[in-house]
Amino acid sequence: MSEADKLGAGAAAAAKVILPGATVGILGGGQLGRMIANAGSALGYRFIALDPTPDAPCGQVAEQIIAGYDDREAARELADRADVITYEFENVDAGVAAMLMEQSYVPQGSELLYTTQHRLREKRAIEAAGVRVAPYSEVASKDELRAAVAKFGVPCVLKTATGGYDGKGQWVIRSESEIDEAFDTLDRAQTQLVLEKFIRFDKELSVIAARSPQGEIRTFPAAENIHVDNILHLSIVPARVEDRIQREAERLAARIAEGLGVVGLIAVELFLTADGELFVNELAPRPHNSGHYTMEACRTSQFEQHVRAVCGLPLGDTSLLTPVVMVNVLGEHMEPLLERMAAVDETAERLGVAPKVHLYGKHEAKHKRKMGHVNVLAADVDAALAWIAETNIWRV
Ligand SMILES: Nc1ncnc2c1ncn2[C@@H]1O[C@H](COP(=O)(O)OP(=O)(O)O)[C@@H](O)[C@H]1O
Ligand SMILES: [Mg+2]
Repeated sequence: MSEADKLGAGAAAAAKVILPGATVGILGGGQLGRMIANAGSALGYRFIALDPTPDAPCGQVAEQIIAGYDDREAARELADRADVITYEFENVDAGVAAMLMEQSYVPQGSELLYTTQHRLREKRAIEAAGVRVAPYSEVASKDELRAAVAKFGVPCVLKTATGGYDGKGQWVIRSESEIDEAFDTLDRAQTQLVLEKFIRFDKELSVIAARSPQGEIRTFPAAENIHVDNILHLSIVPARVEDRIQREAERLAARIAEGLGVVGLIAVELFLTADGELFVNELAPRPHNSGHYTMEACRTSQFEQHVRAVCGLPLGDTSLLTPVVMVNVLGEHMEPLLERMAAVDETAERLGVAPKVHLYGKHEAKHKRKMGHVNVLAADVDAALAWIAETNIWRV
C-alpha cells in the first residue's frame, strides 16, 4: 500500500458529519469554487477559498486567502480557518495535500487526487474497477511509440500523462511520418506519455457520480457532450441515446465511484461507439463543466451534492426536472450575450424556453476563456438547440 493509499483510507474511515454553520475551505477559487460556495451557502455553510488571483470568481462570493496553491503557510491558514477542506481542481500539490490531511479534515483524501493526476494511474484504476478504457500503451521512447502506433494503427492519440486539459498535451497522430515530431513535442512536458487507440465514437457522454464517506452513491443523468476546438460547447440532457445506454453509463460511473473509493464527486467522460460500446475516456474528481446543467435541471445540483458528500450529509435526489441544453459562454460570446440580456428575449418566448444565465465574474473576457454558461430549459432539447442556433451568439 502506498503512502497515498494509507492517507486516503484513513480519511474515509474517519467520516464525520459537518453541519451547516461550519466553514468549508476550498483549494482553488475559480468558477467551480464559486458555484460550490453558492450552493453550500444556501444550505448555511460558510466558505473560504485559497487562490492566487485577487477577487477570484469564488472570492467574490466567499472569503479568500490570496496566495499560491503551493504556499504551505497559506494552506495552514486555510486549515486553521476551515472545519472541512475540499478542492476544485485536481492538480493539487502533493505536499500541500499531505499537509492539509494532517492539519485538517479532508474527507476526499489524497489517493483520488494521486490517481486522477496521472492518465496511466487513472486508466489502471478504472480497469481495476472492472470498467473499459480505450486501448492504450505507455510509451517511453520513439521506438516504443513506433511499435505502439503499429499496434493501434493511425489515427491514434498521444497524450501527456499529466497536466493536460481542453485538448492541451495531446497529439492526434494521423500518419507514421508524424511520430518523431509528436514525440519530441509532447516529451518536452517531461512527464510519461501514453498512446491511445483512436475511438471512432458516435457520441461523447459524461456521468457525474457522488459518493459520501458513509458509502452512499448517486449518479446524475448522462449528458451528451459536444466539443468545439477541444473545449466543451454543449451538454444535451437527456442524452439522445437509448435508455439502455443511459443506464449503462450511470452504472459504470457508480462502479468507478465505488471502486476508487471516491468521496465527493467524480465526473466520468465516456465514448459511445456506433455499435453501442462504452469506453471511459477520463475522470475528474470534482464538479465538472458537463454537470452545470444540473443547476436548474435536477432536483439537486452537482454543487449541492458535492457539499453534501464532503460534509457527510445524505445525498440529494438527482432526478431530472426538465430537458436542458447547457451552452458554454467563452470570452468571444460575452458581448453579444450581454447585449441580448438587456432586451426582452422574444426568441425564447416564441420557442417556450427559459435560458438561465450563469456568469463567473472573471475580469477579462479573453478569447476561448470560460466566462459562464447558459442552461436552456425547454420542453424538449430541440427547442433549446433552436434557441442557441437562433441567438447567433454561438456561430460554429
Ligand atoms: N482515444 C481517443 N479517441 C478519439 N477521440 C479522443 C481520444 N482521446 C481524446 N479524444 C478527443 O479529445 C478530447 C479531449 O481529450 P481528453 O482526454 O478528454 O483530454 P482533456 O483533458 O483535454 O479533456 C475528447 O473529449 C475527445 O473528443
Ligand atoms: Mg476531457
